[in-house]
Amino acid sequence: MTDNTTALVTGANKGIGYEIAAGLAARGMTVLLGCRDHTRGEQAATRLREQAATGPHAQIIDVRPIVLDVTDPATIEAAAASLTRLDVLVNNAGISGPTIDPPSAMAAQTVREVFETNVIGVLMVTNAMLPLLRRSPAPRIVNVSSGVGSLAHHTDPNHYMSALPPTAAYPISKTALNSLTVQYAKELRKDGILVNAAAPGACATDFTKDLPLTITRTAADGAAIIVHLATLGPDGPTGGFFDDAGPVPW
Ligand SMILES: NC(=O)c1ccc[n+]([C@@H]2O[C@H](COP(=O)([O-])OP(=O)(O)OC[C@H]3O[C@@H](n4cnc5c(N)ncnc54)[C@H](OP(=O)(O)O)[C@@H]3O)[C@@H](O)[C@H]2O)c1
Repeated sequence: MTDNTTALVTGANKGIGYEIAAGLAARGMTVLLGCRDHTRGEQAATRLREQAATGPHAQIIDVRPIVLDVTDPATIEAAAASLTRLDVLVNNAGISGPTIDPPSAMAAQTVREVFETNVIGVLMVTNAMLPLLRRSPAPRIVNVSSGVGSLAHHTDPNHYMSALPPTAAYPISKTALNSLTVQYAKELRKDGILVNAAAPGACATDFTKDLPLTITRTAADGAAIIVHLATLGPDGPTGGFFDDAGPVPW
């Protein structure tokens, strides 16, 4: 398909995933925009190309939509089968779930749905892409987590997250994703595959638009740490959890 360094970003048609794709493409990578809707993927690719082609740093970028629903094994297998090369996998697609009920009132089905995308989806996509990544000279995996996945933050009385309302779907899915990141890093260290989790920070996207908060951080701001981890040199860390400021406590 391509001889160029190639990245796959899941959930790339909008928000932080779109900006991760922009950042990696600007660095010269071929970027596959994993999108569950073909039309939204095509539209995102067109927008990315147009944006890159304007302004003082105008460039031609190589971005290509690819249908990929992280909860649908058939689309994952078809996507993997269509590729001949993959160097960077960014597991970005994520959902918050329909409710933020406390654990005692949380519907099991909500937890299942959120885990299906945020954890099982990452496992399925990663495992499907590993044969390609193992053939890369510098393979990198970045799992887009969240600060709310940090148990240290929730249990630190001095951290603002300890005062957030308790809930049992999204935060625990990101804690599980952090754990999955560590387990993959342990397994894949011998293969030279660096695997890290990133906390983009609260960014103004569709994901946060209904929250009663004023968020000034942009999706591009949130994408920066992910692009950094996706482009680590050979001595870069593996099995870590990072935000803009450095390591995040687990
Ligand atoms: N925004 C924040 O403040 C924030 C903070 C911390 C962590 N995060 C994490 O950052 C990641 C991106 O969030 P965002 O703010 O950019 O959210 P967003 O604007 O809602 O975008 C989410 C993306 O994921 C895609 N997606 C959802 N389910 C999918 C599935 N089953 N298969 C494939 N794609 C799927 C969406 O596709 P559709 O357009 O088809 O729905 C969309 O492209 C998430 O993992 C989120 O948990 C966000």
